[in-house]
Amino acid sequence: MGRLSVNLCGIELSNPVIPASGTFGYGYEFAELYDINCLGTFSFKGTTREPRFGNPTPRIAECTAGMINSVGLQNPGVDAVITEELPKLKKCFNKPVMANVSGFSVEDYAYTCEKLGAEPQVGWLEVNVSCPNVHGGGMSFGTNPEAAAEVTRAVRSVTKKPIIIKLSPNVTDIVSIAKACVDAGADGISLINTLLGMRIDLKTKRPVIANKMGGFSGQAIFPVALRMVYQVASAVNVPVIGMGGVSSAEDVIEMMLAGATAVEVGAKNLIDPFASRDIVASLERTMDRYGIDNLRDIIGGAHNG
Ligand code: FUM
Repeated sequence: MGRLSVNLCGIELSNPVIPASGTFGYGYEFAELYDINCLGTFSFKGTTREPRFGNPTPRIAECTAGMINSVGLQNPGVDAVITEELPKLKKCFNKPVMANVSGFSVEDYAYTCEKLGAEPQVGWLEVNVSCPNVHGGGMSFGTNPEAAAEVTRAVRSVTKKPIIIKLSPNVTDIVSIAKACVDAGADGISLINTLLGMRIDLKTKRPVIANKMGGFSGQAIFPVALRMVYQVASAVNVPVIGMGGVSSAEDVIEMMLAGATAVEVGAKNLIDPFASRDIVASLERTMDRYGIDNLRDIIGGAHNG
């Protein structure tokens, strides 16, 4: 076990850095730039039962220290992911991958998780009940404890692989939703997805994004994410993955002190495709600077005393 290794729901990661879903494609695209095996793992693009074209454009708006997206879960559908995307990934990534799953009904989630859970390369299922960019699915399941628990129970019944439920920050009490998911069988919680936001174009006087609103992410949201990770980590007894504006090794360490076992890097990958690799590379010297011998020992450290 190295200084950086952590155990995420029974699977050893060589380091806690995980590119977040929607910012790293199906991985092989980034393997053209560097050896992606340096990462702990990564979470692939949110996959649904059927293929999705996504939302109308424009789908992206720039903001100070962040961005808004309204991609709308564009993906080729679970069958094409299994027959086309995962075989390409297998050629360049020799670690378990995190499969990110979205749905429009409880049955959708269970169907897609059952199929992806049966794939040997899939280590964890990250179940996204928090996409703010679709109607009748995504976030509507993650803003209510009973609905989030129902999805969790359904996916729990179709796979033995670890289930990580990805939560929305667009709620008043994220702790009650996290607890409901854990009580329903979740092996881990990841948070936060994007914050609902919007921009208006002063020239056209209309919303910049065709769908009017979208998910705000990037460095500006880090303190909100950190606060929610801290709250959830102190309330549940399963591993928590922290994400939201993480852009440096320092941010990874801060998230772990708040209680994260692993940390996802999102929008930063879109600004700099080497960001996740560079964060991994700078972790040890950053630990040295702060007198940290190994990362496992600091998880939840900010809760002590
Ligand atoms: O619109 C999208 O594809 C984003 C998904 C998400 O934020 O969960």
